[in-house]
Amino acid sequence: MRVIAIDGPAGSGKSTVGRQLAARLELTYLDTGAMYRAVTFAAMRRGVDPSDEGPVAVVARDMDLSVDESGVMVDGVDATLEIRGSEVSRAVSQVAANPGVREEMRTRQRVWAAEHGGGVIEGRDIGSVGFPEAALKVYLTADPEVRAARRAKELTDADYDQVAADIAARDAQDSSRADSPLVEPDGAVTVDTTGLGIAAVVELIAGLVEERS
Ligand code: DC
Repeated sequence: MRVIAIDGPAGSGKSTVGRQLAARLELTYLDTGAMYRAVTFAAMRRGVDPSDEGPVAVVARDMDLSVDESGVMVDGVDATLEIRGSEVSRAVSQVAANPGVREEMRTRQRVWAAEHGGGVIEGRDIGSVGFPEAALKVYLTADPEVRAARRAKELTDADYDQVAADIAARDAQDSSRADSPLVEPDGAVTVDTTGLGIAAVVELIAGLVEERS
């Protein structure tokens, strides 16, 4: 099983780079942020308050979840678009800080990796906690203004200042939580994508993978 772990804050380029890298290396791709977003969506849909730790962990264990390149299905409902909305985006950090949710998602990620023989897996704790044995660990980062501008461009209903404030709040929460916070994993290669295009980042990482295989 060969895992390429990509971690980093919001807007660092993980999803775009991860998808293209997986295609280039002929590996499958898993967006673990989409899993935490999906738990948030499922809790809201069932009328469970995202801050209610016990009940949200029960939702995480009970829910039917599938995340793949065609989209995200939650309890038989297509949630691909809703999980990117501002309601889910604002609540997801508290759901991702819930230890019961994290334990369940890590189990599901390991099952996914075993079934797919590894892959490109993207998130916040992939190289540090989820897959410390990964063949390559990459920590992607970029200047905060660049990350906010990228996110604002992806969303049609948001202005730059609001997006910048939201991702700064989310980064602070994700980096300071007790259970598997966002960190640069030991042994990771840090890539600053501030002045780099997507193709250049994909090339750089593909080169690192080839060097190590
Ligand atoms: O990458 P994203 O913005 O879709 O991630 C959504 C949230 O999930 C983000 O606030 C951090 C959290 N997350 C996490 O805690 N661990 C992961 N492996 C992936 C995402």
